[in-house]
Amino acid sequence: MYSVPAIAIRQLLVSGGSTMAAAEVARQMSEGARNLSLSGHVGFDSMPDQLVNKSVCQGFCFNILCVGETGLGKSTLMDTLFNTRFEGDPAAHNQPGVHIKSNNYELQESNVRLKLSIVNSVGFGDQINKEESYKSIVEFIDAQFEAYLQEELKIKRTLHNYHDSRIHVCLYFIAPTGHSLKSLDLVTMKKLDSKVNIIPIIAKADSISKNELQKFKIKIMSELVSNGVQIYQFPTDDETVAEINGTMNAHLPFAVVGSTEEIKIGNKMMKARQYPWGTVQVENESHCDFVKLREMLIRVNMEDLREQTHTRHYELYRRCKLEEMGFKDTDPDNKPFSLQETYEAKRNEFLGELQKKEEEMRQMFVMRVKEKESELKEAEKELHDKFDRLKKLHQDEKKKLEDKKKSLDDEINAFKQRKTAAELLQSQAQQSGSQQTLKREKERKNSGFL
Ligand code: GTP
Ligand code: MG
Repeated sequence: MYSVPAIAIRQLLVSGGSTMAAAEVARQMSEGARNLSLSGHVGFDSMPDQLVNKSVCQGFCFNILCVGETGLGKSTLMDTLFNTRFEGDPAAHNQPGVHIKSNNYELQESNVRLKLSIVNSVGFGDQINKEESYKSIVEFIDAQFEAYLQEELKIKRTLHNYHDSRIHVCLYFIAPTGHSLKSLDLVTMKKLDSKVNIIPIIAKADSISKNELQKFKIKIMSELVSNGVQIYQFPTDDETVAEINGTMNAHLPFAVVGSTEEIKIGNKMMKARQYPWGTVQVENESHCDFVKLREMLIRVNMEDLREQTHTRHYELYRRCKLEEMGFKDTDPDNKPFSLQETYEAKRNEFLGELQKKEEEMRQMFVMRVKEKESELKEAEKELHDKFDRLKKLHQDEKKKLEDKKKSLDDEINAFKQRKTAAELLQSQAQQSGSQQTLKREKERKNSGFL
């Protein structure tokens, strides 16, 4: 679909030799070609037809992003542009932020199939704080570039049947205020202009008078220029379309009216908007720029929009991304640097860092182990001290108890001795007592008998 960049050819040629050698071969191949005339029909003049057939067979894809405040007629314009009614539920507008809604359609005109994606920034401009409104749009565009880049970087890539979701054009809907651009419009367009082809359009142009419209267009363009916003310029390098594109560039921003309603005007049915005071014909160039927009967007520059997306915006994204990852085309002395060299340099850098990290981790581990070891030793010493203290305490206690036991034993022995002595005394006393009793009894008996 896209021509292979020269650098890629060069890279492919360098499998064993250096980039310089490959570049030299490529230069010789292109410079040393001789012009020869053919003496008969060969057939490669059918190349354009082969390309057309292949493209028709593959089908085309086109992705449109509509950015503009709620109710500016975005959906109506899409329906009008493609002469159909894209189903789609009305979006809720009470959400806290802007969110992106993408719908895919398959259209067919004659034998040409078109995969069309219409992406809407739902809720754009609905919030009180609009500072972050552009963010989700930018993120969405980048995400599509990233998906393509990831596919491109795969070893087994399938770009020929990859569903390309990169945004080819952003229709930026400007409210028909007649005054100037809102800061939201300027900020958003500025954030988007390096990422997507912007075509600014004045929406609902039937609500602004002819004189005001001219002034409004001039004001918008001067504001865009003074704020450094780059909008898409219809290309003038292809002479077949240079004239029409040049003229149309001067008509930007297109002031459009959308309507799917068909009204009978004369004896023809026409798309128009009917008002109590008259009818606005969508396809009448003296009423609005709808036809100019359709001509430029679909009939003349659709392929250029696709190409610009790939060669300009995607290329920029890819370059920044690869540079962010550390890849370079030239070395510090501005000499060409092959992808392989960059890869090897990066790999070595990475391995070096890995080794450094490993060493750091090892040292950290050793330090930790040492720390733990000394902590454990400290704890062991404390335990030993505690044990010794307890042991001493225990021995003191034991000694005290033994002393106490000894004194108690002594007391017991002394007591026992005293007890034995007392018992002895008691038994002696008893003995002498009973002898005296017997003696007294005997004496009493004796005295009784007398
Ligand atoms: P959201 O998706 O909700 O943000 O709205 P939208 O931008 O898709 O607007 P939509 O196409 O739904 O149109 C909103 C209203 O504006 C409808 O009533 C349309 O009929 C009307 N409308 C659409 N285009 C025009 C136009 O060119 N001029 C005028 N005067 N009204 C229009
Ligand atoms: Mg809508």
